Amino acid sequence: MSGGQKRRFRFVALVVSLALLALSGCGSQRAVDHEQWGSEEKIVITFSHVVAENTPKGLAARRFANLVREKSKGRMLVEVFPNGQLAGDGEEIQALQDGRVHLIAPSTGKLAALFPAWQVFDLPYAFPDQEAVVTTMEGPIGQKLFRTLQRGGLRGLVMWDNGWKQMTSSRRPLITPEDFVGQRFRVQPSRVLVEQFKALGATAVAIPFDQTFRALETRQVDGQENTPSNIYWKKFHEVQWYMTVSNHGYLGYVVLTNNLYWENLPKDVQLILTEALAETTAWVRENAGRLNERDLDHIRMGRIEVHFQTEQERKAWKAAFSPVYDYFAREVDAERIQAIRELERKQEP
Ligand code: SIN
Repeated sequence: MSGGQKRRFRFVALVVSLALLALSGCGSQRAVDHEQWGSEEKIVITFSHVVAENTPKGLAARRFANLVREKSKGRMLVEVFPNGQLAGDGEEIQALQDGRVHLIAPSTGKLAALFPAWQVFDLPYAFPDQEAVVTTMEGPIGQKLFRTLQRGGLRGLVMWDNGWKQMTSSRRPLITPEDFVGQRFRVQPSRVLVEQFKALGATAVAIPFDQTFRALETRQVDGQENTPSNIYWKKFHEVQWYMTVSNHGYLGYVVLTNNLYWENLPKDVQLILTEALAETTAWVRENAGRLNERDLDHIRMGRIEVHFQTEQERKAWKAAFSPVYDYFAREVDAERIQAIRELERKQEP
């Protein structure tokens, strides 16, 4: 390509990107014929997330971007902004609704304020294994949850796994429910998670992910819950003394876009994105567990004391969490709780 052609190509790419961004934020008019997109147009899609690049979500976003580039032969570019560089934790959804970003992948807990039913994924010990999570995501519960997103002008594309959350504290080992009494824990902004710690006699404080390290370091809170990958890559374990591998809660993501933005994308662009998302979802399902195991091994090399919960301890925590289910049935979604209780029962030995 000559210098002149390159400049023209970059100019067209910029114009198409700006047109789509503007369109997603402020109008319903179609800027170009979007059935097919012209051979000289380049589409730039921004993907913002809040975690480190080496976590399941960080790696999935990168993989997705590579797949889109390959499938579109370089005509579609997904620019990934990790660590909240483009939109911080707590701002992502608004940024998507305003058309300032095109794709985000918040955890289900971050959807709680706008779409409370998504808190079903925050219920402690609700899912015996990843298969139960996938069944829930892909079954009637998941389908209904995806439909709720339309109310916010959003479109849920797929769900990605991170994995199972573990507890950490700087005050004392977390073995029995009584060990939680009087401690303060950082949580995501989900009422179910607040209730979870309340049920253990602890206090929960909603703090954005990007401020959690500082909150732990300065003892604003005593502890937190997260997956090994999030703990390790944000160095939470360096400012905590005790960790219990409890696998008590699930952390997963919904890949979201702005519905208007999506509907104005050319059909062939939508197809490439859909295929790349499906392949990435399969990859993350296959690999998230392995990545978390790797990061748990890294954590165990540090000074933090790691306890693996016994079956008896799990039963005691589970019994203590019973009021969380009552809260969910009463305040959030009485209908869904039955199906979740079924999953729960399946895990009883
Ligand atoms: C994330 O994995 O996106 C962050 C989860 C959290 O806020 O704990």
